[in-house]
Amino acid sequence: MDFRMFVSCRRVRRQFFQVIVTSFILCFMFYWVPINNVLSHMKSYSYRYLINSYDFVNESLSLKHSSAKTPHYQYLINHEEKCQNQDVLLLLFIKTAPENHNRRAAIRKTWGNEKYIHSQFNATIKTLFVLGIPSHLQKREELQRKLLWEDQKYEDIIQQDFIDSFYNLTLKLLLQFSWTNNFCPHTKFFMTADDDIFIHMPNLIEYLQSLEQIGVQDFWIGRVHRGAPPIRDKSSKYYVPYEMYQLPAYPDYTAGAAYVISSDVASKVYKASLRLNSSFYIDDVFMGLCANIMRVVPQDHVFFSGEGKTPYHPCIYEKMMTSHGHVQDLQELWKNATDPKVKTISKGFFGQLYCWFTKVTLLCRVHHEDTYPCSAAFV
Ligand SMILES: *[C@@H]1O[C@H](CO)[C@@H](O)[C@H](O)[C@H]1NC(C)=O
Ligand SMILES: *[C@@H]1O[C@H](CO)[C@@H](O)[C@H](O)[C@H]1NC(C)=O
Ligand SMILES: *[C@@H]1O[C@H](CO)[C@@H](O)[C@H](O)[C@H]1NC(C)=O
Ligand SMILES: *[C@@H]1O[C@H](CO)[C@@H](O)[C@H](O)[C@H]1NC(C)=O
Ligand SMILES: *[C@@H]1O[C@H](CO)[C@@H](O)[C@H](O)[C@H]1NC(C)=O
Repeated sequence: MDFRMFVSCRRVRRQFFQVIVTSFILCFMFYWVPINNVLSHMKSYSYRYLINSYDFVNESLSLKHSSAKTPHYQYLINHEEKCQNQDVLLLLFIKTAPENHNRRAAIRKTWGNEKYIHSQFNATIKTLFVLGIPSHLQKREELQRKLLWEDQKYEDIIQQDFIDSFYNLTLKLLLQFSWTNNFCPHTKFFMTADDDIFIHMPNLIEYLQSLEQIGVQDFWIGRVHRGAPPIRDKSSKYYVPYEMYQLPAYPDYTAGAAYVISSDVASKVYKASLRLNSSFYIDDVFMGLCANIMRVVPQDHVFFSGEGKTPYHPCIYEKMMTSHGHVQDLQELWKNATDPKVKTISKGFFGQLYCWFTKVTLLCRVHHEDTYPCSAAFV
């Protein structure tokens, strides 16, 4: 190699190197947050798929002293007798806030309606709204009065005396598990859901009835988050300090928007929850931590949505279970999704082909919202 060529080669290499470094620095400056995000996901996935050991949870989050106990709150509104002497298929808890009267009213008329389910499926479901006390001091008395009035009418509210707020969601979860353990241990299934969700109750009940027939156990279904990293960005609602949780990934858990477990899992999770420090405030992750101690793993169901809203289409309604973010459109969606015509749309060869094509078009886009995965088109 002659000298000139050697120099130019070195120059090219140096320039190349500079370009790489400069672009890296630029990336770093402009996309610090995304890169950080990518790195933390890489770390958490490697942890989840290579190491996958969460013994730490048992040690580090356990209440240290035998005197330390999970907090105990008093019931302000309760219905102990709700499940008594009845064969309950599904105990359904809806996490709601004191001021959300309208959402509760819409749910009572639609998917939360016990009578409708009984008449259609000869199945007993129990719907309960769970909440704490209004956080707003000035409005507290008035809201509380309205709640009592509402409960006298519908008898479906369970309230404890902790402040109803985002950072107390784990207390609300503990309330649901302890209520189940005390007053409804014989239910076949337990479900928890947000009050802005849509549940296709007929589809869900048919599914649960078929599972009950085979006597399912260790059952936990929903939209599964695998290897999710704790969020270390202080401005996020889901920020978790290192002192509170040290591993790079959470155990697998289902999105808190809606999931279903069998009663044996409810009782195991309840037992585990008594051992853990409940100051960890992300309720669905907390559930994952409890389940992990008991070696219960979640299963994904393609028609449980996480954050996203279902596309409006009868071919989707035929199979859907839950969809997130429904307030204004709840009653209209209920009407359309439970229309008997929905069950006939995919009948026959051409019906099947039509629905398959529709679902692929609606779900298998590159940039589609986080509703159901593309694979949902093929089941
Ligand atoms: C409804 O279910 C009960 C048991 O839960 C059963 O005894 C009864 O026969 C069922 N009724 C109908 C109409 O299927
Ligand atoms: C949670 O509820 C407790 C009991 O009412 C209260 O002391 C605490 O401030 C609440 N936490 C938040 C973040 O609202
Ligand atoms: C629970 O954890 C928090 C920190 O995350 C700690 O401050 C608190 O003392 C713990 N409580 C118990 C009872 O161990
Ligand atoms: C968790 O720790 C307790 C003691 O603190 C122990 O009895 C139990 O077996 C442990 N569970 C698992 C799954 O390691
Ligand atoms: C319900 O059906 C009507 C008539 O087919 C349609 O216009 C409307 O967009 C549908 N809404 C939902 C939420 O599915």
